[in-house]
Amino acid sequence: MANIVVVFYSATGNVAALAEALAEGARGAGAEVRVRPVAERAPREAIEGNRRWKEWVDNNPYDTVASLDDLEWADGIALGSPTRFGAAAEQLKAFLDTTGGLWAQGKLASKVGTSFTSASTGHGGLEATIVAMNMVFYHWGSLIMPLGYAADPSLMETGNPYGASWVSRKSAAPDDSATGAARVQGARLAGIAGALGALSRS
Ligand SMILES: Cc1cc2nc3c(=O)[nH]c(=O)nc-3n(C[C@H](O)[C@H](O)[C@H](O)COP(=O)(O)O)c2cc1C
Repeated sequence: MANIVVVFYSATGNVAALAEALAEGARGAGAEVRVRPVAERAPREAIEGNRRWKEWVDNNPYDTVASLDDLEWADGIALGSPTRFGAAAEQLKAFLDTTGGLWAQGKLASKVGTSFTSASTGHGGLEATIVAMNMVFYHWGSLIMPLGYAADPSLMETGNPYGASWVSRKSAAPDDSATGAARVQGARLAGIAGALGALSRS
């Protein structure tokens, strides 16, 4: 059985919905799963200036933020962030920048990593953001798992082979096809991370 952690930032809930779907897919494939937002770092006045952001922060359903222990515990790591000017949100990057100690000890090598995102427009940087998040896995020595198309026939219609993604346009929440792709990504991560974990323990 694989240990999977879903580490994400979400300001208005879209990436959180993808994170939950990915977690559901991993659990369905038999994994033990932790779903962990990273800490909010934006100044309160910025949050107050955006109704949806304020609502999300004020009704935050998570009581535990991502920790280095979560990364060490996991066989598979899924990273999620909204697209922010074509890259991941600084809140996620700030957390990733605390992993130097684990990296130096080689504790993040040989884990399986995968990424997912949401952007408001289809050409607004979905793939660039996923690739930017995946960059950290190269440095950790992790194995990068793209979503691809082959894991499920639905991905030929709805999928982004880089990773689950959602075009939120006028603030719409992820639809069934986006959460479906995230579920497939979670199941695929659980399967591959579980198999590699078993190999490395044998
Ligand atoms: C500062 C900022 C920068 C953004 N940059 C982009 C962008 O480059 N491309 C895009 O399509 N959407 C961009 N967006 C829109 C978000 O990616 C989009 O609303 C996303 O669905 C939010 O996800 P969340 O609900 O998980 O926070 C940006 C939003 C903010 C607040």
